[in-house]
Amino acid sequence: MVTEADVRKALSKVMDPELGKDLVTLGMVRDIEVERSKVSFTVVLTTPACPLAAQIQGAAREAVLRVPGVREAEVRVTAQVRPAGPKQELIPGVKNTIAVGSGKGGVGKSTVAVNVAIALADAGAKVGLLDADIYGPNIPTMMGAHGQPEGAGEKIVPLESYGVKLMSLGFFLREDTPVIWRGPMVMRAIQQLLGEVEWGELDYLIIDLPPGTGDAQLTISQSIPLTGAVIVTTPQDVALEDAMKGLMMFQRMNVPILGIVENMSYFLCPHCQKSTEVFGHGGGERASRRFSVPFLGEIPLDIKIRVGGDEGRPIVKSDPKSPHAEAFRKIASALAAKVSQLAVKAQ
Ligand SMILES: Nc1ncnc2c1ncn2[C@@H]1O[C@H](COP(=O)(O)OP(=O)(O)OP(=O)(O)O)[C@@H](O)[C@H]1O
Ligand SMILES: [Mg+2]
Repeated sequence: MVTEADVRKALSKVMDPELGKDLVTLGMVRDIEVERSKVSFTVVLTTPACPLAAQIQGAAREAVLRVPGVREAEVRVTAQVRPAGPKQELIPGVKNTIAVGSGKGGVGKSTVAVNVAIALADAGAKVGLLDADIYGPNIPTMMGAHGQPEGAGEKIVPLESYGVKLMSLGFFLREDTPVIWRGPMVMRAIQQLLGEVEWGELDYLIIDLPPGTGDAQLTISQSIPLTGAVIVTTPQDVALEDAMKGLMMFQRMNVPILGIVENMSYFLCPHCQKSTEVFGHGGGERASRRFSVPFLGEIPLDIKIRVGGDEGRPIVKSDPKSPHAEAFRKIASALAAKVSQLAVKAQ
């Protein structure tokens, strides 16, 4: 007779390679059912964007099929994202908050934020995207979101685009009027964008920061416990130096660095397929080794990525089969995996 305990014992030998613990210890095994020689159970992953889902499912199945008496094993896979930090006071339904920053302007923070947010939503996660670039809020354009969010009671309801909940001061500002922000105004605006918006239940809230290490960055790190930060850089030395300033600012504020993304890493010629390293290559990875922080991946320089942003159809949506979309999905998965690791460590 096969018992539930036999199944559990077998699954306690199956490791989640990313989290370094077995499925039973991680609390990932649910609903074990045994019907003579047939076993079924559910594996609850820590993120729907899990890069190893198929591998874990296969390993769990094999382990159970090795139990004497088991002839058939059905492994259902679902996911439940875990919060990696303390409970959010200002935004209680949000499990994880991830800031995307860099010391330098124009390196592709917003492009990364937008495509990663959509990739996570496509994987099945509940995702929000907050445009905290109050100086040049361009997320609405990049996400093809027009119109104005409406109020519901005391709160503002975010717009939604490509399955991602969106909020930006860009929805409220007129394009032709520049805003001059002073320190306290920056703080107030950002706290409103966080706390007065009906975010609802979110697995990940991605926060697109303005360039630099100024008021906006400080306000965010002080207003909410950030799960972590992603640093975007291009491969040139100047950009890297600035990126490292951004990285050190987060470290000083005790915000974990989830990883570095190298954008505009190389140019793949559409005619001859030759790869040219316009700004050099590999600087992001070297920097991640130097600072002992994870490297999440690299994205090529490609006109389609710019056009996708300009036209409000990010490449992950406009050309999902392209290698560039794949690069963004890989980064999204790597990022989700880092958040899961922090969540498991925090337990
Ligand atoms: N990999 C890429 N290939 C081609 N163009 C890109 C790539 N990444 C970003 N761009 C383009 O470069 C410009 C700057 O990108 P983006 O706005 O994402 O940078 P940013 O770091 O958010 O800038 P800012 O500091 O102004 O907020 C945009 O026009 C964008 O479409
Ligand atoms: Mg930007």
